[in-house]
Amino acid sequence: MQAFKNYSPSEISLHTSKKDCWVSIHGKVYDVTTFLEDHPGGEDVILHASAGGDATQAFDDVGHSSTAISMMEGYVIGTVEGQVSADEPSKRVGGLQRLQRKQPPPPSRNLSDFLLPLLVLGSAFAAWYYLNFYSVPKA
Ligand code: HEM
Repeated sequence: MQAFKNYSPSEISLHTSKKDCWVSIHGKVYDVTTFLEDHPGGEDVILHASAGGDATQAFDDVGHSSTAISMMEGYVIGTVEGQVSADEPSKRVGGLQRLQRKQPPPPSRNLSDFLLPLLVLGSAFAAWYYLNFYSVPKA
């Protein structure tokens, strides 16, 4: 088992055999040697992707399920030197969203929101007052 570290693309390209197979996907390096035989898509596709350099495109094109994506964590051994791994931008977006959420909502009320009901109430009171105290009762 390799230590979790940064691997250069040339180092990753040294592990493309059935007995020692690494793949780099979304900036992370996976040692899938023990998984090759169990891979539902077969070992050849992974070996081929491993030999072809970065396997991100091939992996994404298959449209792997969320189960497949969570399985990957069991094989991760490090990151690709000079690449941002898939987690990091999402963390940054999360941070940005948290920042945005902290900001107070823009004030939606203005003066007319208070004046209009006041005017309606005032008119109603004026009408009531006029009808009760000023209007001349009909004979
Ligand atoms: C750590 C790496 C990988 C893991 C854990 C993994 C896991 C899986 C799993 C669980 C499936 C079953 C279908 C699903 O749940 O999506 C699958 C199918 C498949 N995978 Fe992978 N895979 C990996 C890498 C790759 C790579 C690099 C390729 C390269 C092309 C590949 C090609 C395929 C193909 C062609 C299928 C069959 C899809 C189908 O029959 O519909 N996989 N993989």
